[in-house]
Amino acid sequence: MCGIVGYIGKQDAVNILIDGLRKLEYRGYDSSGIAVIHDKHLTVEKAVGKLTNLEEKIAPLAVKGNIGIGHTRWATHGKPSDANAHPHTGEKGQMAVVHNGIIENYLYLKETYLAGEHFTSETDTEIVAHLLEKFYDGDFEQTVIKVLDLIEGAYALVMVCADEPDKIIACRKGSPMVLGVGEGESFIASDVPALLAYTRKCIYIEPGELCILTQEGIEIKNHQGEVLAKEIHTIDWSAEAAEKGGYEHFMLKEIEEQPAAFQRAMAGRIKNGRVKFDDFTLTKEDIAKWRKIYIVACGTAYHAGLVGKTIIEKMVRIPVEVEIASEFRYRNPMLDEETLVIVISQSGETADTVAALQEAHDNGSKVLAITNVVGSAIARAADYVVYLWAGPEISVASTKAYTTMLLAQYLFGIYLAQQMEMITAEAENDLLAQLQQLPVETEKMLTAAYQSQIQQIAANYEKVNDVFFIGRGLDWAIALEGSLKLKEISYIHAEAYAAGELKHGTLALVTTETPVIALCVQEATYDKTASNIKEVKARDARVLAIINEGDTETAKFVDDVLAIPRINNFLSPILAVVPLQLISYYTAKIRGCDIDQPRNLAKSVTVE
Ligand code: F6R
Repeated sequence: MCGIVGYIGKQDAVNILIDGLRKLEYRGYDSSGIAVIHDKHLTVEKAVGKLTNLEEKIAPLAVKGNIGIGHTRWATHGKPSDANAHPHTGEKGQMAVVHNGIIENYLYLKETYLAGEHFTSETDTEIVAHLLEKFYDGDFEQTVIKVLDLIEGAYALVMVCADEPDKIIACRKGSPMVLGVGEGESFIASDVPALLAYTRKCIYIEPGELCILTQEGIEIKNHQGEVLAKEIHTIDWSAEAAEKGGYEHFMLKEIEEQPAAFQRAMAGRIKNGRVKFDDFTLTKEDIAKWRKIYIVACGTAYHAGLVGKTIIEKMVRIPVEVEIASEFRYRNPMLDEETLVIVISQSGETADTVAALQEAHDNGSKVLAITNVVGSAIARAADYVVYLWAGPEISVASTKAYTTMLLAQYLFGIYLAQQMEMITAEAENDLLAQLQQLPVETEKMLTAAYQSQIQQIAANYEKVNDVFFIGRGLDWAIALEGSLKLKEISYIHAEAYAAGELKHGTLALVTTETPVIALCVQEATYDKTASNIKEVKARDARVLAIINEGDTETAKFVDDVLAIPRINNFLSPILAVVPLQLISYYTAKIRGCDIDQPRNLAKSVTVE
């Protein structure tokens, strides 16, 4: 997803813009560009490919200035190219615009207001730059307001004007942006990591707000032009936390951060043998009102929701349906005041999940958000929020966010059961004690010896084209996540099946060429899964089984085993996914893939 950075102050804008864009690389991009103003002259430079291409291009030109905007583009309208990269300018090259999102009525605007003008790109963004220049009458702010009134869609726009080099103007409707408050300088970016090296004070921009950034400070106005008093948040993430910290890839760093993330996610929430959430309380009456719960999310977060269904149904016997957010609102879901909707989203900005939340609210349902990003759209709109406290996740492939999503749901499930008086003190204590063991148990799978065992197993997948994952119940939910991880970073086609389902068609594809990864952790279904493994072994598939420590049986009929620490079976998904994350990581590494930024993918998906 596109990344935006803007700077105005006394320092060299170019360095700050490039540095900020680098911090946003995790969002995925295919081209980049900057626009800088010096002596009322606007210079725009753009390059397709990695940021280093842009740096190489601008170095000999000695581009300078104390005000500028920058952008990393993830193509939506028009292929990745120098011409389509942002910033875009109008015909006179007087105004520059960077944009994240989609201008839905751009063709109408082009035909209605810009007939005869010459365009250099295929983008919807260029239309905005042309409109700005066309309507400019010496008042940049009023011109922006006029243009915003015309455009439709979900966007974040940041604009500069060569004739008014004392300000940057920004606004958003849909796509996230955050302002950085400095001393004698102001910043704007799509996400906090781009700001952290310069300031920890930030302001979240709400949809519809107009922001005017100057050296002296930032003014934020509502649609009526009234200046708003906005809260300034202090970010406590360290700059290092948002960077690689010595690891070759963010993904491995984030996998290894899981024990610390678990500790943070539980800290302060387990008190005197009870679960408590700081931000909300639900009474027995509140909970008893819900006749049904929907869990709505995308991708990895959806897989976390599949585990959440089992947790909640087991803990409080309320039926739970898990839905893919991009499908949810189009199928007229049965929502009302007696339904709770849980939305799960690491970024808190996923457009489909935001839309599902809105659908829930429109139909009178309360929404609980499980998210990692404080101040995100989803966190702000939800009625109740459970933060993951996983710390920033930079790698496109989600790991610690996924496991903390599971942990958050276990805590929430236990909380519901205690509020409903549906769990004995003994059972609650046992579950909480075991949850608190998770950091230590997870560490056991992060040792050099364990990872070297995984590296050896991963070598088996270097040349394969297809892998099947199988499991039953909670093991199946984990298999789904394992297969998504493998396909997204190693580009191997992987599919997860409920183990018993394989023989209803897919078994026809199982041969010596299709390795199978079998989850054999859930004891209640162990025997059945073992039979399914024998079915694939009979077709000569190479089988890796994920087993519980102490299981000596499975190794007798599979090729490889990886043991996870033994824990209450109900909680084991949190541990069982860790070897799958590592297998994906090491397989992708052997295959030479771009692990942190897999092709075609973006970290934050803010288009529907
Ligand atoms: C895969 C992955 C994605 C996200 C999905 C939803 O590793 O990370 O499948 O889970 O795009 O993103 P969030 O959780 O930000 O809503």
